[in-house]
Amino acid sequence: MRTFAVKSFGCQMNVYDAERMGEALQADGMVESDELSADILVLNTCHIREKAAEKLYSEIGRIAARAADAGEKRPVIAVTGCVAQAEGAEILKRTKAVDLVVGPQAYHRLPDLLKQQEAGARGIVDLDMPASPKFDALPARRKRGPSAFLTVQEGCDKFCAFCVVPYTRGAEASRPLDAILSEARELAEGGAREITLLGQNVNAWADGNRHFGDMVAAIAAIDGVSRVRYTTSHPRDVTEAMVRAHADIPQMMPYLHLPVQSGSNRILAAMNRKHDRAFYMGLIQRFRDARPDLAITSDFIVGFPGETEEDFADTLSIVEEVGYAQAFSFKYSPRLGTPAAERNDQVPEEVKAERLQRLQALISAKSLAFNRRMVGQRCEILIERRGKFAGQWIGKSPWLQSVVVTNPELKIGDLVQVELVFAGPNSLEGQELTPVIEPAW
Ligand code: SAH
Ligand code: SF4
Ligand code: F3S
Repeated sequence: MRTFAVKSFGCQMNVYDAERMGEALQADGMVESDELSADILVLNTCHIREKAAEKLYSEIGRIAARAADAGEKRPVIAVTGCVAQAEGAEILKRTKAVDLVVGPQAYHRLPDLLKQQEAGARGIVDLDMPASPKFDALPARRKRGPSAFLTVQEGCDKFCAFCVVPYTRGAEASRPLDAILSEARELAEGGAREITLLGQNVNAWADGNRHFGDMVAAIAAIDGVSRVRYTTSHPRDVTEAMVRAHADIPQMMPYLHLPVQSGSNRILAAMNRKHDRAFYMGLIQRFRDARPDLAITSDFIVGFPGETEEDFADTLSIVEEVGYAQAFSFKYSPRLGTPAAERNDQVPEEVKAERLQRLQALISAKSLAFNRRMVGQRCEILIERRGKFAGQWIGKSPWLQSVVVTNPELKIGDLVQVELVFAGPNSLEGQELTPVIEPAW
């Protein structure tokens, strides 16, 4: 019996793919084990920034060196994910320690490809990129736990000037509603109280005349599903139905990740984001009108080619103006094959580093302010894991904050009413509210 481990290096969709690969290998009779003892190691890679892609080669070097030190044979290594799609057979040329290269649309064939490898096949590369038959070929979900990811849409047609995703993940494609609902039911039966719908442009999802809002409503209606989240949305795909879903569907969590990347109109145009700052601010207003307590988060890139100090000041000012609950920010990383990488007005590394520091300091301040505003509020938290100390648990608030609560009687998957009593930068503290018992008369 062969053992395996799957390691994810990327975004939430990459984590989801890793889970499904693991389930496919288990359904094929393999046994999941820890990374150090696995016969087969699947490295599910990310290509979004240079550093992310380089992680693959340092990881492979580490695995090979560890095996050599122990005088053992190294595990079979399968490279999957976005680096696999982008670099393909080049990976086999660059290192001898890789046995299979399998793209993000072909991983349902991993069990078969591993059998071929066991039978002696060498240099296996499968980068097939059809629309979505992989989902039909994958086994039912086995995942157990209170929160689960569910990919409903894949790919991207937006071609932002800095981004590799349209090349590594292919064109935008939506999964059919029926397939999504049956997967959601499997997850709910496995204990999922919260489902996060995933897609590179999740709000572009459509099936015939059914749109994003209809899908959220259908998922929310499944027995056991108390919370629905989604990520990542593109400003250009926002519809009135999506905004309304935040007002009308009680299970829809008050949380919106709507990346803007930059606050400067000049840079937004150069990035090919296809909208300006005023358009984005108009969307934020509409969402806030529908759901005033919404937590809004974003992604930012600093040091895009041609970005001046003035452009960067616009990015700082949009962070102020929106008052984000949280945000991810990155130094621009030139990616081969994308238009922005060809530009001759690249921003020096030290300028990027300095701007990133200033931006991150501002984001942290906004995030702490957001957390502090929540103190005194009552809300429901979903218990996800144990805390550091005995009797302590960590739950998620509707606004995706970690909330610490103490009560030895609780268990994972409980939904608990708390009052938020203290806020730090990374988590809050909650005090459990005793349920009010209504008299029987
Ligand atoms: N589809 C999502 C983004 C997916 S990639 C959207 O449009 O918002 C996740 C984030 O990585 C992006 O939002 C962007 O902030 C960052 N990113 C993508 N390419 C990058 C690059 N070349 N350099 C630095 N950051 C990048
Ligand atoms: Fe990349 Fe832009 Fe597509 Fe997002 S919308 S995945 S940033 S090309
Ligand atoms: Fe990375 Fe691919 Fe996700 S490049 S961010 S793993 S879509």
